[in-house]
Amino acid sequence: MDYSEVLRRLDPIMDKAGELIMAYQTKDKKIEYKDQVNLITAADRESEVFIYGELSRVFPADSILAEEGHKKEGSSGYTWVVDPIDGTTSFAHGFPFFCISAGLLGPGNEAVLGYIFAPLLNEKFTAFQNGGAFLNGKPIHVSEVGALSGALIGTGFPYNRRTIMDRLLRRLANFLYRVHDVRRTGSAALDISYVACGRLDAYFEEGLQPWDVCAAQVVLQEAGGQISKFNGDRFDLFVPETAASNRKLHAELLEVLSKE
Ligand code: IPD
Ligand code: CA
Ligand code: CA
Repeated sequence: MDYSEVLRRLDPIMDKAGELIMAYQTKDKKIEYKDQVNLITAADRESEVFIYGELSRVFPADSILAEEGHKKEGSSGYTWVVDPIDGTTSFAHGFPFFCISAGLLGPGNEAVLGYIFAPLLNEKFTAFQNGGAFLNGKPIHVSEVGALSGALIGTGFPYNRRTIMDRLLRRLANFLYRVHDVRRTGSAALDISYVACGRLDAYFEEGLQPWDVCAAQVVLQEAGGQISKFNGDRFDLFVPETAASNRKLHAELLEVLSKE
């Protein structure tokens, strides 16, 4: 498969989805609740319907798995994993860190291509296997920070946080003792892309779903970063433990994550 051609065909789809959600900046977002803290807006639904329709049209043989329930089985062995808005809570509150994320899984469920578009920030992170990682077309690379004591890291608080609160806060405290500071944008796809371009040095979260990470994983790995489960095992999109770093920090990141 010619991945640069796939990115080229994906480009107008992501642009149009970006326009579509940006139109909601000035109209009623129609916020609904999946549960007490998990929001969904009309823009999430519209973005997903649009992307699902376009991917089905442009890549008819591919499977699709999208957050808000659109799914189909194709024959090509490739699966699009789509988050129509990653960072819905940020989006709903007008906080600028939200994006559209489309990743491609190849045969063997290996993430092979990623495209993340933050329309309000006008930033596009793109990558495919063995092709490097790019921000708005310019090559990006992870940072050179070699110790947590000099690191700015990111994290997130998943929607099931009430059920894991003690562990979540202990882990956060363990990091707060060790790092320069911690950021929480509200979009895991952007957080991981920010590790890829050196704005953050590492990131961790418990509870992410495949559509939060699929595209960003490729961007990070192609930018020289590392991603694994909390115990260092090979990362699995379908297991909700994400430890991501600039590679140099990975051992120290895992050491802090191993403390309870
Ligand atoms: C969420 C964001 C957030 C992370 C949550 C995710 P959504 O995705 O990525 O940063 O902390 O765990 O569920 O719901 O905005 O698509
Ligand atoms: Ca998400
Ligand atoms: Ca989402």
